[in-house]
Order: sequence, then C-alpha cells, then structure tokens
Amino acid sequence: MSGRLQGKNAMITGAGRGIGLAFAKAYIAEGARVAICDIDIARAEAAAKELGDGAIAVRMDVTSKDSIEEAVARVAETFGSIDILINNAALFTAAPIVDITEADYRKVFDVNVYGPLFTLQAVAKQMIAQGKGGKIINMASQAGRRGEPLVAVYCATKAAIISLTQSAALNLIEHKINVNAIAPGVVDGEHWDGVDAFFAKYENKAPGQKKKEVGAAVPYGRMGTAEDLAGMAVFLASADSDYVVAQCYNVDGGQWMS
Ligand SMILES: NC(=O)c1ccc[n+]([C@@H]2O[C@H](COP(=O)([O-])OP(=O)(O)OC[C@H]3O[C@@H](n4cnc5c(N)ncnc54)[C@H](O)[C@@H]3O)[C@@H](O)[C@H]2O)c1
Repeated sequence: MSGRLQGKNAMITGAGRGIGLAFAKAYIAEGARVAICDIDIARAEAAAKELGDGAIAVRMDVTSKDSIEEAVARVAETFGSIDILINNAALFTAAPIVDITEADYRKVFDVNVYGPLFTLQAVAKQMIAQGKGGKIINMASQAGRRGEPLVAVYCATKAAIISLTQSAALNLIEHKINVNAIAPGVVDGEHWDGVDAFFAKYENKAPGQKKKEVGAAVPYGRMGTAEDLAGMAVFLASADSDYVVAQCYNVDGGQWMS
C-alpha cells in the first residue's frame, strides 16, 4: 500500500538515526512530508538529504522549551501545518540502584519524559489551532511494562510515557487528536549497541553477548529491526486508526502480552 499519508505533514523527534529515521522513510513512502528533528543536526541533515524533497532537518533539543517551541514553529511555517507527531527521541541508561546518580536521573527524565510532554503540548496547541485533528505517537517500550534490575530509571521513564499517553489521549480526543504509543521490545541498532555496552560492564559479558541472548529470547526468534515497527507507525498516523485512542501497542515479536 502507498499514499496512506498523502498530503500529511509529520514531525519526528530523534529521527536522525535508528527507529525515528526508519519511520521517516516509511512516512515519505506513504506520501507525507517529514521534519527530521534531532539534537544531532549533522545526522538530521544527512537523513533529510537522503530522503529528498519531502524531508527537512530541524535542530531540536527536547529538553528545552524554547527549542521545542522554535522547532514546532519552524515545521508549521515550512509545511503549513503539523498533522502527525512522533515523540521518539530518548536516552538509555543502566545502573544498579545503589549507583544511580542524580545527574543521570535528571538527564534521562529530561529527554524521555519532559521532552515528550512539552513537545506534545506545543504540537497539540498547533493542532487545536489548525482545527482538523491530528495524530500523536509516543515511543514507549517493553521496559515501561515492568521493572528490570539494572534499568530502574529508563524503565520508569517509559512507564511514565504509557501513563502520559493515556491522560493526553483522554484530554485531546475532543479535538480529534489521537494519542497512542508503541512499545517496542529489543530493536537492533546504535541504541542497542549502547545497551549491550552497559550489560558488558555490569554483567561481565563479552561485547555482543547480551544482544545474542535477548535476540534468542524473543518468541519470533530474533531482535527486531526499526523497519519491523514502521507498519504500526504508519497505521497510528493514518485514518485507519481514527477510533484508536489511548492505546500502547506492543511490537516486539511476542515478548509481552497485554
Ligand atoms: N532500540 C530499542 O531496542 C528500543 C526498544 C524500546 C523502545 N525504544 C524507543 O524507541 C525510540 C527510538 O529508539 P532508537 O533505538 O532509534 O534510539 P537511538 O538512540 O538510535 O536514537 C535516538 C535519537 O534521539 C536523539 N536525541 C537524543 N537526545 C535528544 C534531545 N535532547 N533532543 C532531540 N533529540 C535527541 C539522538 O540524537 C538520536 O538520533 C526511543 O524512544 C527508545 O526509547 C527503542
């Protein structure tokens, strides 16, 4: 299928690489224009160049309200409207409870919770002013479904995303703005290279060992790819999901059932 997002304008945070970039590619293939928003402007520009005319690169730091508001204004002005937001930018961290630092807690909560909340707020204001509804997708995680011994902070941020998705969805649906979330499992890429390095440190594993273990534990039989998630991101941005409100979809090869 193609053209399901024809004429739509999307803004994706953290889309310079990984899952956000795969979503940007899928959206362009479905006819949308996409703003690749990232703190890493070099990656965002390279991604936009690769994607061609339908893409623009926007420098955005989701931990700064000024930066969020500037980015939203720039996308709205360039494209004429914002119809879809994916709150995708996030950081991972891991540490035993006794080693968690205040600085790490604040840094990760700022990007993973403050960022999505205030980006959602700024885009919701824009969508309400436009008066034709919209679609907001928050990137949660299997990590938000339950705790993990070494991942307290990141898990808590993703549980917060599931909760925020529910509250924002119930508040914004009167404006025909659908807010939903995607909970991936283990998705290979640069993010998981970093996760693997944390486990190499704390569980004394060889580099790459944790990835092999988590891939083998997925009922589907392997780690996910960013492209495995794209179909859900297109569905939640399309008219096919108009009656879908406040949900968090697991796209994880069968790892979590709820
Ligand atoms: N990869 C996985 O296994 C996995 C699993 C579950 C959930 N997720 C979630 O999916 C989303 C995408 O994951 P990914 O694997 O592509 O991650 P990634 O680390 O590859 O990409 C994250 C992007 O966010 C950007 N970013 C970081 N801080 C930012 C800031 N302050 N402002 C703007 N941009 C910033 C980075 O520059 C990077 O381009 C995240 O929300 C992540 O938590 C990933």
